[in-house]
Amino acid sequence: MKKKILIMGIETSCDETAVSIIQDNGKKPPKILANIISSQEKVHKKFGGVVPELAARSHLEKIETITKKALKKSCVKLHDINAISATAGPGLIVCLSVGFNFAKSLSLALKKPLIAVNHLEGHALSPMFKNNIKYPYLLLLISGGHTQYLIVKGLGKYERLGTTIDDALGEVFDKTAKILGFEFPGGPKIEQYAKKGDQKKFILPKPIINRGGCNVSFAGLKTAVFRSSKLIKNNQDKYDLAASFQKTILEIIYKKTKVAINEFKKDYNGDKFVVAGGVAANKEIRKTIKKICIEEKIDAVFPDLDLCSDNAAMIAIVGLKKFKKKEFNKLDFSINPRWQLDKNAKFLKGSGIVL
Ligand code: KG4
Ligand code: ZN
Repeated sequence: MKKKILIMGIETSCDETAVSIIQDNGKKPPKILANIISSQEKVHKKFGGVVPELAARSHLEKIETITKKALKKSCVKLHDINAISATAGPGLIVCLSVGFNFAKSLSLALKKPLIAVNHLEGHALSPMFKNNIKYPYLLLLISGGHTQYLIVKGLGKYERLGTTIDDALGEVFDKTAKILGFEFPGGPKIEQYAKKGDQKKFILPKPIINRGGCNVSFAGLKTAVFRSSKLIKNNQDKYDLAASFQKTILEIIYKKTKVAINEFKKDYNGDKFVVAGGVAANKEIRKTIKKICIEEKIDAVFPDLDLCSDNAAMIAIVGLKKFKKKEFNKLDFSINPRWQLDKNAKFLKGSGIVL
């Protein structure tokens, strides 16, 4: 019997050291044999955000142990792995270089192909462990560093419809949580405390809600949260502000997603809308997306909760798809901390984006 393809995925773009081993399953979705994640939450907690040098050091300390754990869990021998895939961008340069250079060494020693993976493509394909999704599909990517509406036309083929012109959605969740004195990472804490709050208590702005297509902006909202936080007298006020903030985000997502779906439907006849990335774990956001999808007659697709935040299984699934197309990389391939999914997406000088 022909041996099934085995792919190793390595992820170190930010503050998770992760190694996964997956197995091809023919026409069915691949099987995750091991998906080991070591989070650095404790390392960065006291700084209220990720400190790149500490993150890189922690990746260095852990990468070997995590790889051994993944091999043990999957009962796979290193020599039986068909290819080594690893995140090569976007992310923190000092962190990416740990995982990607480790992957290069393995590839060289084992004489197995090296596959460079775009971290965001990992998020984009993360629901494919449940079902294969036919291209083209619409994607909303919401993570700590990115907020983008994209059309996924095929492996490596992306068209960006809209993005944030300032902060990423996960970043605003984390900053709001910090203002309210919740622990890092704050996104899940906002969701938790918002349940106890009155979402009508604070009126917050929805920047560029009626212009800019499906581009989004959160800087003004963040400033408004900061100003409102000066009025806080007790815990209940905190919960009310968390609830009002989350409600405002839901309204922005509602409006902008409708614009994105309409733009997608104008030119394509795909019927799936994938929402991925760490913030896609938020249950209220999932509810809002499901409601829009019923109204707009498109299927909402989410990755399993444990595959929303950073992991290496999502890197391995991109690795597997590239392996089947023989899209390998040479050992001199360089990491790219600003690797964009849509190569033609425009940037203004500075970090702003053309509206
Ligand atoms: O995709 P991810 O794990 O890492 C990046 O690639 O950035 O996303 C992490 C982000 C953090 O900002 C975190 O606060 C946010 O996802 N997040 C959430 C929730 N769970 C994680 N934001 C809102 N609600 C949640 N339940
Ligand atoms: Zn991510």
